Amino acid sequence: MNTDWNKRYSVEEYIYGKQPNHFFRTVMDTLSPGKILLPAEGEGRNGVYAACRKWDVTAFDSSSVARQKALELAGENGIGINYHVCDYPDFNCHESVFDVIAFIYAHLPEEQKHACYKHLSPCLKIGGKVIFEAFSKNQQKYQLNNPQAGGPRDPGMLFSIEEVEEIFTGFHILKLEEKDICLSEGYGHIGTSSVIQCIAEKI
Ligand SMILES: C[S@@+](CC[C@H](N)C(=O)[O-])C[C@H]1O[C@@H](n2cnc3c(N)ncnc32)[C@H](O)[C@@H]1O
Repeated sequence: MNTDWNKRYSVEEYIYGKQPNHFFRTVMDTLSPGKILLPAEGEGRNGVYAACRKWDVTAFDSSSVARQKALELAGENGIGINYHVCDYPDFNCHESVFDVIAFIYAHLPEEQKHACYKHLSPCLKIGGKVIFEAFSKNQQKYQLNNPQAGGPRDPGMLFSIEEVEEIFTGFHILKLEEKDICLSEGYGHIGTSSVIQCIAEKI
């Protein structure tokens, strides 16, 4: 159980809101429904969006409070999602069953973050897509001036373009871009932010 995240999520509000991440939604709207995996899914905003569009959703997160809120959000929308409480190494994924894996702000400690992506990539089908958005190393400059700018304060948990390239070595990179965007996601991600967006296809 992830006690830090459980404490953060133990508020009535959805800290990143109930609406899906904009990049996630934009990419998903171009794809036909299939099976999607959402690691580190938090309070369910992205999984619920996908399920409402007929995707078969599997999600996991180490926070049990996040799961509870995600299932409530699913109930409000009249849909169901499969949501496991586990740390990423305990997610069993030996079969290539998913059409999409979406890593949306799935930030982990530096020593774990590469391992997480390598651990999960076998469960993506050949031809399946990764959708990735996370804060870049340049987010630190926005965090200095804006307490509501999102992202871990530990720079090792932020990403560089080179790291993302390294993580998805062997994939066909369809998009890889670092950019400044204006986030308005609940109260956890607010203001100008530096993010990396990637779409990669398993070959
Ligand atoms: C910034 S939040 C993002 C939540 C969600 N993806 C979103 O965009 O709304 C990061 C999430 O990673 C989860 N997390 C952190 N370490 C994890 C681990 N080792 N295994 C699984 N989930 C983890 C946290 O519980 C938290 O929900």
